[in-house]
Amino acid sequence: MESQSGECLAVLYQPLDHTRRTHWHDVAIVSAFARAMGDAGSVLDVGPGDGWPSLRMADRFSRIVGIDPSPKRVRVQRENAARLGILNVEFLVMDAEAMSFGDASFDGVCAASSIEQCDDPAAALAQVHRVLRPGGTLAMVFEDYSEYFPESDGDEEVWVERARSTDGPGEHVLFYQLRTKSPGREVRYGIVIDGVRLAGDRELSEVVDAMVGTPVSLDLQADSAPKRPDELSIPFLETLAPHVVSAACYELNHVTSRTLDELLRSVGFSEIRHLNHRIPLVHEAFDAAESEGRLDEYASTFVQVCEEIGVRAVDDATSGQGSFVIAQKPPR
Ligand SMILES: C[S@@+](CC[C@H](N)C(=O)[O-])C[C@H]1O[C@@H](n2cnc3c(N)ncnc32)[C@H](O)[C@@H]1O
Repeated sequence: MESQSGECLAVLYQPLDHTRRTHWHDVAIVSAFARAMGDAGSVLDVGPGDGWPSLRMADRFSRIVGIDPSPKRVRVQRENAARLGILNVEFLVMDAEAMSFGDASFDGVCAASSIEQCDDPAAALAQVHRVLRPGGTLAMVFEDYSEYFPESDGDEEVWVERARSTDGPGEHVLFYQLRTKSPGREVRYGIVIDGVRLAGDRELSEVVDAMVGTPVSLDLQADSAPKRPDELSIPFLETLAPHVVSAACYELNHVTSRTLDELLRSVGFSEIRHLNHRIPLVHEAFDAAESEGRLDEYASTFVQVCEEIGVRAVDDATSGQGSFVIAQKPPR
């Protein structure tokens, strides 16, 4: 992907817009990150994607370094910094699990939806702890894996989902996402199909179209046979093979609020606090204003309103659940 956010990020790609819910969220989260890291001078951003949140925080810290193992992501991050005229944010190709920085190199570390994308989140957090100065703060947003299984108490479920991408003209991307709840592990198979060639096989094309965007839950405990074998079986993949352009597979080791707490403590962090889940107040404020047709009343004040919510959420952070976590490296 050229832009991993689909060029939808506020400021990085679009002017701040008080009529967009995501922009309210963006301002609140950026303020929460900045507040959490306080008076840090140097900040490390793990896995900045398109340059977020580093580029949004450039005016709040004297030096920010973003690291990402993907050369393509780093190229995009550097291009975005140059386009925005930001000079105090540097992006490096580097894996969070094997950082080349010295111990205690940064006053603060932020990570947005990236630690759980690492092959070994525990190794990445151990490195984060090492490069953070004693007394420094880690602020991170993460995907809480417990939300993937909202209605299930079981431990053995596997989920399969498929999605479609319009990245390239005439290309379909199918994702098989096999998820186990405990341990929190997800295996994603991505299959890129030549849509033009596929169109020549109408029957198969209809099956693929029917698959797109339809999650299927399989309970392997109760019934080991897939409910829709024609779509999920090896014979189906063999039928698809002539139309496949490329394929990739990767595994994710997911975290929940609880397992992340355990990981953070095991590598040496303390004072672990969670913000209210996804800063719901900003969404409530936006939804109320939108449903009452009062959104334009916020045109001049929405940045201030969202910043205040972000700051308040950090000040009110408690232990418990939430997908925004603040942790301290104990002072020496
Ligand atoms: C879901 S994106 C989040 C991007 C951005 N922080 C945001 O919130 O928009 C995950 C990012 O983590 C990066 N990433 C994956 N594995 C990583 C690793 N081992 N070390 C550092 N970054 C990693 C990816 O390349 C990608 O840029």
